[in-house]
Amino acid sequence: MLVNFKQIIGMAEEGGYCIPAFNVYNMETCMGAIKAAEELKAPVILQVYPRLFKEEAGYYLSPVVVAAAHKASVPVCFHLDHGPTELEVTRALRYGATGIMLDGSALPFDENIALTKRVVDLCSYVDVQVEGELGHVGTVNDDSMDEFTVPEDAKKFVEATGVTALAVLVGNAHGRYKKPPKIDIGRIADIRKATNGTALVLHGGSGIPDEAIKEAVKAGIRKLNVATDVCYAFLDCVQEEVVKPDRTVAVDNFMKKPIEAVKVFAETKIKLVGAEGKAK
Ligand code: 13P
Repeated sequence: MLVNFKQIIGMAEEGGYCIPAFNVYNMETCMGAIKAAEELKAPVILQVYPRLFKEEAGYYLSPVVVAAAHKASVPVCFHLDHGPTELEVTRALRYGATGIMLDGSALPFDENIALTKRVVDLCSYVDVQVEGELGHVGTVNDDSMDEFTVPEDAKKFVEATGVTALAVLVGNAHGRYKKPPKIDIGRIADIRKATNGTALVLHGGSGIPDEAIKEAVKAGIRKLNVATDVCYAFLDCVQEEVVKPDRTVAVDNFMKKPIEAVKVFAETKIKLVGAEGKAK
């Protein structure tokens, strides 16, 4: 069933666990993630990068995500990931998104607040809630990313914007880490406390050691984003299968194994964050 961001984050808060959020890129990655969630009876977020909403792909992909959510036996939220402006936000809403991330983290503090607040207000007209970001989570190739989220700033940000969840910079980055990252668990707990128990989001979930993820969830992470490893699960399987002499050329049949590979991968993260069996 399709649910909104507030509903799905509420489930995680009530149960003291974390919602796995998988980036999806095509029908097959979407099917793999949904199959995993249904098999393990877990609520799940399927999210889409904003570039897809600027291209034709988002037009085709969105109905797939919405159909998957409606058909699913578990709660599913369709989320825009890293929306930079109102353009992508409005388009995502038009395409049926029930959760929005507005990422103003590269902007000066006051501008981030102003833009995020405008988007929170806009989304409220259609009962959709917003994830903001404070402390810019860059990529693993960035030279330095040491301006971690400051708890007092997080408090001001959450109060001024009314976001439902907040993405934080605590040692995480997007992409494949060159060495295992050190996640600042104490800081997650401090931000959680300073923001009066606001749901926190950990981006860059691919490659964070399992133990760190478990500790992060205990400290207040309620949404874990995983994108790069979804791509690798899918593409590694395609690469392996496509060179086999007996492979089928019927694309729908060929895709069955890559879908299964995404499913198997997604299941590991669902279990890790404690979402297994939590669908109501
Ligand atoms: P990874 O690609 O590192 O898993 O990060 C995903 C993410 O945070 C998407 O917003």
